[in-house]
Amino acid sequence: MAADRSEPGIDPVRRAWLRELGIERLWNLPAGAAASPPLVQTEYGDRGEAEGDRVQPQSGTDAPALADARATPETTEPEAILEPGMALADPASSPAPVDPEQAWTTLEDEVRNCVACGLCKGRTQTVFGTGSRKARWMLVGEAPGEQEDRQGAPFVGRSGKLLDSMLAAIGRSRQADVFIANVIKCRPPGNRDPLPEEVARCSPYLMRQIALLNPDMILVLGRFAAQTLLETDARIGSLRGRVHALSVEGKSVPVVVSYHPAYLLRSPAEKIKAWQDLRLALSVGGA
Ligand code: URA
Repeated sequence: MAADRSEPGIDPVRRAWLRELGIERLWNLPAGAAASPPLVQTEYGDRGEAEGDRVQPQSGTDAPALADARATPETTEPEAILEPGMALADPASSPAPVDPEQAWTTLEDEVRNCVACGLCKGRTQTVFGTGSRKARWMLVGEAPGEQEDRQGAPFVGRSGKLLDSMLAAIGRSRQADVFIANVIKCRPPGNRDPLPEEVARCSPYLMRQIALLNPDMILVLGRFAAQTLLETDARIGSLRGRVHALSVEGKSVPVVVSYHPAYLLRSPAEKIKAWQDLRLALSVGGA
């Protein structure tokens, strides 16, 4: 179960997490009351750090329209990610077993044995995803890095620790309250960006995971995952701060975009924006 999520009266543990995030003082401010951080040049580097965006100076506040976002969700209905015939792995098209537990197991087996693209040759193991299969939130990252490939779980390195802190700051845990997956289930060599063909072959697995979980909200972490899921070239800065809609197996799922934790580690001034994104996510996916 999720811990108490009410904003005032933070318990000491959560306060400690907020302090680590550098946002303790901001917890009780109205959304958007924090001053904008200075212009920051995006750095490029390891997985998730190249957000491909330059922070735009804002006048007065960088706050997204939190109140409006839920009332007027953007109804972009991305077209199918796959072109017909491109996907060797297409679990979404096979008849789903009725039992959800069985469906998860079947999908996990399919991913474990997947040889649909060249990434299977270099992997130690696939990284299916972790968390609760009853979670109301899904978090989606890019692809496993070295640590994830070794341990078989997403976000287990430094960026994973920051992600855990961010979740703890809103009273949620990776084990109980979210399911975390990546667009790509195998580590790309040298942490390079996944290739379009790899995305085409792997993303049906993610779509199936979304359909099985049926989350109230998807929080997309980083430029690559956001552009892939939303099928856009738009910069992450312009995708943040509003609610998108993703159509998965006939159902529309709200999507909130935020920065990748690895990017936040390199650009700590941006944590305030990630905080705003979490607040938006709470307003969409249940406070
Ligand atoms: N970066 C990601 O996008 N996913 C992981 O699992 C780890 C790092």
